[in-house]
Formats: sequence, C-alpha cells, structure tokens
Amino acid sequence: MKNVKIIHLPQLFVFFHACFAQADFAPHFYDNGPYSQNGNLALFSLSEDTPVGTQIYCLNGTDPEGQEVSYGLSFDPGSKEYFRVDSKSGNITLVEKLDREKQDSIDVLVSITDGQSKVVERVTIFVMDANDEKPDFQNMPAIIDIVETTASGSSIYKVEAVDRDTGSGGSVTYYLQNGQSTLFAIDRHSGVLRIKSGEMLDYEKTKTHFVTVFAKDGGGNFNGKEQFLSSSSTLTINVIDAQDTPPSFIGTPYFGYVYEISVPGSEIFTVVAKDGDVGNPNPICYTFEDGDDGVFSINKTSGCITLVTLPIYLKREIFNIKVRASEVSPEGRLMDYGVTTVVIRVVDLNNNPPTFYGENGQQNMFELTMYEHPPEGEILRGLKITVNDSDQGANAKFNLRLIGPGRMLRVVPQTVLNEAQVTILVEDSAAMDYEKHHFLTYKLLAVEIDTPERFSATADIVIHLLDTNDNAPKFASDYYIARIPENSPGGSNVVSVTATDPDSGPWGDVKYSIYGSGADLFLIQSESGIIYTQPWASLDAEVRSKYNFYVKAEDAEGKYSLAEVFVTVLDLNDHPPAFNDNFLEKTMVIGAPVKIEAVDDDAEVPNNVIEYAIMKAEPDINIFDINADTGEIMLKSYIKSMAIIQNITKQRDFTWSLVVQARDRGQPSFSTTAVVKIDITEAVSYNKEYVNNNIHIKSFQFAIPEATSPRPPN
Ligand SMILES: *[C@@H]1O[C@H](CO)[C@@H](O)[C@H](O)[C@H]1NC(C)=O
Ligand SMILES: *[C@@H]1O[C@H](CO)[C@@H](O)[C@H](O)[C@H]1NC(C)=O
Ligand SMILES: *[C@@H]1O[C@H](CO)[C@@H](O)[C@H](O)[C@H]1NC(C)=O
Ligand SMILES: *[C@@H]1O[C@H](CO)[C@@H](O)[C@H](O)[C@H]1NC(C)=O
Ligand SMILES: *[C@@H]1O[C@H](CO)[C@@H](O)[C@H](O)[C@H]1NC(C)=O
Repeated sequence: MKNVKIIHLPQLFVFFHACFAQADFAPHFYDNGPYSQNGNLALFSLSEDTPVGTQIYCLNGTDPEGQEVSYGLSFDPGSKEYFRVDSKSGNITLVEKLDREKQDSIDVLVSITDGQSKVVERVTIFVMDANDEKPDFQNMPAIIDIVETTASGSSIYKVEAVDRDTGSGGSVTYYLQNGQSTLFAIDRHSGVLRIKSGEMLDYEKTKTHFVTVFAKDGGGNFNGKEQFLSSSSTLTINVIDAQDTPPSFIGTPYFGYVYEISVPGSEIFTVVAKDGDVGNPNPICYTFEDGDDGVFSINKTSGCITLVTLPIYLKREIFNIKVRASEVSPEGRLMDYGVTTVVIRVVDLNNNPPTFYGENGQQNMFELTMYEHPPEGEILRGLKITVNDSDQGANAKFNLRLIGPGRMLRVVPQTVLNEAQVTILVEDSAAMDYEKHHFLTYKLLAVEIDTPERFSATADIVIHLLDTNDNAPKFASDYYIARIPENSPGGSNVVSVTATDPDSGPWGDVKYSIYGSGADLFLIQSESGIIYTQPWASLDAEVRSKYNFYVKAEDAEGKYSLAEVFVTVLDLNDHPPAFNDNFLEKTMVIGAPVKIEAVDDDAEVPNNVIEYAIMKAEPDINIFDINADTGEIMLKSYIKSMAIIQNITKQRDFTWSLVVQARDRGQPSFSTTAVVKIDITEAVSYNKEYVNNNIHIKSFQFAIPEATSPRPPN
C-alpha cells in the first residue's frame, strides 16, 4: 500500500498510510495567489454558453519527490458530471451543457496523486450568466373587461414579463406594437397600460380591442456576441357597455286617433322605446310628462296609451302628449330617459248638422213684434235662439249669417264652436220702417265651415213692425206757384196743395192752414188743401200782382211741414192807351223829329206795350214817317228843305195836321188817336220856344176798343 501523508489544510482529506520508517511527501496543486490561475480549479467560473467539448481548465500540481502525478475528478453522487479530466495532462473538458438558470455552481472533487499519496480537494465552480433567456410574460395572454366610461388616462392593467437572465440581459422594457393603438399607451418600465389621455372607450364603436405588448431585455453576451431578446403577448380588452345612452323611441313620429266610437279603455296608440345601451339594455318604463290632460293613461310596461273618458268629454281636437321612456335600473330606479311627442287627434264623424233651438226645443221659425225704428244696437231680446252642433272640433264649427232685406239686422256671433246663444241686433234703425215693410223676413243660416259635408240649418225670423208717428206730412213740392187773373170774383180757386203722411190712422191725417203776410186775401180748405180767394177779395194786377205765404200741413199730433205759395195776379188788358192830350201842336225843324207819347195803365206787357201809327194827314200828302215803338215823327228822309216841301205841295203853307194812333198789344187790343198839328220851319228861323219840341196839349180824349184778333171771352 502507499505511504500516508498528513496534510494540514482545511477541506482536505487526510489519508493515513501504514507508518513506514521512511516518510513519503504527498503531491499538491500549485497555489498561485488570487490573481493568477491556481492549479486546482479554485475560484474558477465558467460562462454557461461554453460549448460542450471545450477544454476549460488544466489541473496543475507537483510532487515534492518529483514523482509523476496524475489527476482525478469526481462529483457528489447523484449530481451531473459536467467535466472530464485527462489524468496525465490535467486538461478538463466540458462534457455536459451548462444552464446557469438551472444550476449556477458545480461542486467538484479534484484529486492529485503521486502513486503513493493522493490528495483530494473539493472546489466549487461558478456558472456565469449569458443572455440566453427571453422575457417571459406572466399571466399572459390575458382578457380584461373595462367599462366604457373609464376615465381617460386611467391605468387599466399591468403587464409583467420576467427575464431570468442577470444584469441588463435580465432587465425588461415594454412597448406596444408600432402605432397599433391610438387608444392605449404603456409605461415602458412599469408595464402599466393606460387609456391615453384625451381618449375614451366607446362600446358603441368597438366592443373588443386586441393589444399586442412587447417585452424586450436590455441585451447581453451570448456566444461571444451581444444579443437582445424579446417576446410579445396579446391583451384582449373587452369594452363593457355602460348605461350611457338614454332609451330612444322607435318609429316616430307618433300619431294616434280618437274616434267618436272610442270608449274608456280604447287603445289609442302604443309607443316603443329601446334602451340605447344595447349591449346591456335595461327595461323601459313609460310615463306621461304632460299634455294628456288626465284623459289618457299609459301602460308603464307596454307603452300602450288608452283613453280613460268618453270622447265627447275631450276638450281639444289635438293632444300633444309628451311621453317619457325611462330605463329602469336592476334595483328598480328610474335612470336615463328619452322623450317623444304623441299627437293624438280627436276624429269626429261629423254626423250632426247645426241645429236651432228655441225655448221649447228645436225650432225653425222665430217671430217677434216690435215698434218700427228701434234704437241702433238694440238687441231683439224677444228672440230666444240658441244654436248648437253636437260634433267635435272642426266638425262643430260653423258660421251664422242673416239673410234678408238691407242691413237692418246683424247676428252675433258670426262664428260658433259647438254652441252659442244667437243675438240679433239692430243695425239700421231708419230702414226698419213700418211704412216700407209691415214685417221683415230673414233667414238665419248656420253653415259648417271646415267640413266636407258643409251641413247647414236655416231658421225663419219674422219681425212684425208696429207703426209709430214717425212721419210728418210732406208736401208734394216745396213751393206752389199759382196764377189768377185779375178781376177774378171772390171765392175763385187759386191752387190746390197736397201733403201726404204715410203713418197710419190719425198720424196720417193731414190738416192744412195758411199764414203769412200775403195770405190775407186767401183761404184754404183744411181737409182738401184747396186755396181760394176771400169772398170779398178783388185782385188788381195794377195794384198788387204778387202774393206769397206759407201753407202748413199738420197731422193729429202736430207734426207738420211747410210749403210756400206764390200767387201771381195775371194782368188783363183792361186799360187803353191814352195820350195826355188828344190835340197836340208841334213845331218841326227840318232834320229833327218830334215825339208824341201815350201811356197804358195795364200792369204788364203786352197789355201796356204801345204801337204808334199815322192814320191820316192833312194836307193829304204824306211826307212823314212815325217810329212805331217810340212815337217819334220825322220827315221822310229825302225832304231836306222847305223848297222840297214847297215843290211837293205846291203851296206856301207848311202846317200839317196828322191823326196818330196809339194801340196796345193786349188781347183784345185797345187804341186811341190824337190829332197832332205840326209846323215845319227851317232850322235857322226857329223860335226858342220850339227848340225842345215842347208840346202844347189841348185835351180831348176818346177811346176806341178795337178787337184786332177777337177771342171768345174767358
Ligand atoms: C505548472 O505550474 C508551474 C509553477 O507555477 C509552472 O511553472 C508550469 O508552467 C505549470 N504547468 C502548466 C502546464 O501550466
Ligand atoms: C493539454 O492541453 C494543453 C493546452 O491545450 C496542450 O498544450 C497539451 O498538449 C495537452 N496535454 C495532453 C497530454 O493532452
Ligand atoms: C300593461 O301591459 C302589460 C303587457 O301587455 C299587461 O300584462 C299589463 O296587465 C298591463 N297593465 C295594465 C295596468 O293594464
Ligand atoms: C243644444 O241646445 C239645446 C238647447 O239649449 C239643448 O237642449 C241640447 O241638449 C243641446 N244639444 C247639445 C248636443 O248640446
Ligand atoms: C221843283 O220842280 C221843278 C219842276 O218839276 C224843278 O225843276 C225844280 O228843280 C224843283 N226844285 C227843287 C228845289 O226841287
């Protein structure tokens, strides 16, 4: 057997050999201090990525006696044998793959022997990290539920990836796939995923988001090169619908109808609303907001609107009912709501015409007796008329009209809804005249306005007028002109006047009278209106030819009117013309006329219009002309001197005697003659006395009534 050496070293096994007289020193490994390789593997470390087969170490030792040494290598029982040693050279080869993450140190028993002594030492080899591990996501892939109302910027998840490498190869940063999401962001260090600030989830837009998250290590050596390792995983984000959308009504606008045949409980219309949060809809509760006037009800759950009253009690034609649909939370709370309007129209069948009623029911004839000329605006209270139309709304709307003579009466109101008291009032008092109409007949008309049928009703209105003394007697003319010949006997008719009074009875009886300063000579018959002269009156146109006075016509109540009477006394030719003197002497200067003149006392032309004529001349040689109108006598124009006269007359006497006639133009006509003696002188020798053609009159008068155009006496 071999010598036994005692080695005083920790961790060394000491083998004892049989004690021989001669001692043998044991081999040993070199010990080179901390900075250079020892011979015994102490403090050796090895990167885990070292390939199998690599010579990793060389055991180095020596024997003090210089004997050849050999090396050995062994492992604890049951542990993996990573290395093999070449016993001669001490070269150690890696024979098993290393994995630091599984085993980061290897205990090895190295031994050296010189053939006699054997030294065994236990050493630990450290396995060093290489970047061979990927980041490994924990709890991924994951599915998370996020309520859509989650505030923007909120963190919603923390991803975690583990890299078992050490150092930067074991550090992890996170990122999202490039531009994959505008909604989410991840913190690269902590792995916290957030909703980007300013962004909100919206269930109604996207119900699920798939977010790919990358984890990357910080890089490290592997097989002599730097390498980075990363991995990815997907996060599924389910957006949870929040109660953020109110219910909305389907199929609007809504129109419903109430018919005349509807009864309480009749279904009018059913509204339907759905929760806008369609992912998680709540049940709906229907209620009225307003406009139902208490005459409709709505089923909270079905939305069915029913009538609660009889249609005739509906006060409107159109109801605009606001209906609210509220979502009901699982706890029974009313939450979000939507509102809509249901228009309900009351449809009437228009089966009733307007109808007139009197005090005792339906009536089509109304009569009233009243005095003529009632005050304007007076209501005919005696007519108790109502009108109604039992339909509803537009079907019960009608116009009232009064049709009849003139515009004497007016009806109020003009437009009726359902029912009205009919008032008829006086519009034109003057026209309501008994003298024109003893009764008035009107038709009262009620005609529906807006219905296709235009139902109507008529009633007769008869108003009997009573007379009042509303008229004064009225003359046929404002004035009367009468002519009466002068010399008419007393009691002669002058003129007859007439006034009429249309009133009845004594109000229409007329009495006449006359008065005024010109009335003295006249009388009037009070009943007949005949005016005649007083019995004693004698009318003389030459004294007074014009009379005027008033005539009065008066009824029994003293209502009267006046007319004026003008009486003209007609002139009769009762005066002949007369010369002042029937014998005249005149001196005529040649070239100048002499004038004679007669007067006629009659009042008027032609009775007092005189014509002059020369009837006879002595000597009987007519050398004179007379102007028939003026009575101017002159020599015929060719007689310009005494010599001519002498030549004509053959005498020396220049004195003429003319018979001149003055005749009026009355009928019958009267005439008168006068003798005019004319002395003719030359102008140079005339006497001052004759210059003015003064006439010396020696009077004798006679008249010859002469009927030039005889007439039968009146
Ligand atoms: C062994 O160690 C000695 C002393 O340090 C050295 O001189 C020699 O070169 C080593 N041998 C080998 C093979 O490394
Ligand atoms: C041991 O390894 C070294 C270095 O690789 C080599 O030079 C030497 O020849 C080897 N010795 C044996 C006996 O294989
Ligand atoms: C409301 O309508 C529902 C469903 O039609 C019905 O079951 C319920 O009886 C109605 N409620 C009333 C109060 O009528
Ligand atoms: C119409 O008016 C009359 C009289 O006032 C009345 O008797 C009748 O009942 C009314 N009809 C309706 C439908 O109102
Ligand atoms: C008068 O009459 C005679 C004869 O007829 C005439 O010749 C004479 O001229 C007349 N003398 C005058 C003035 O006319």
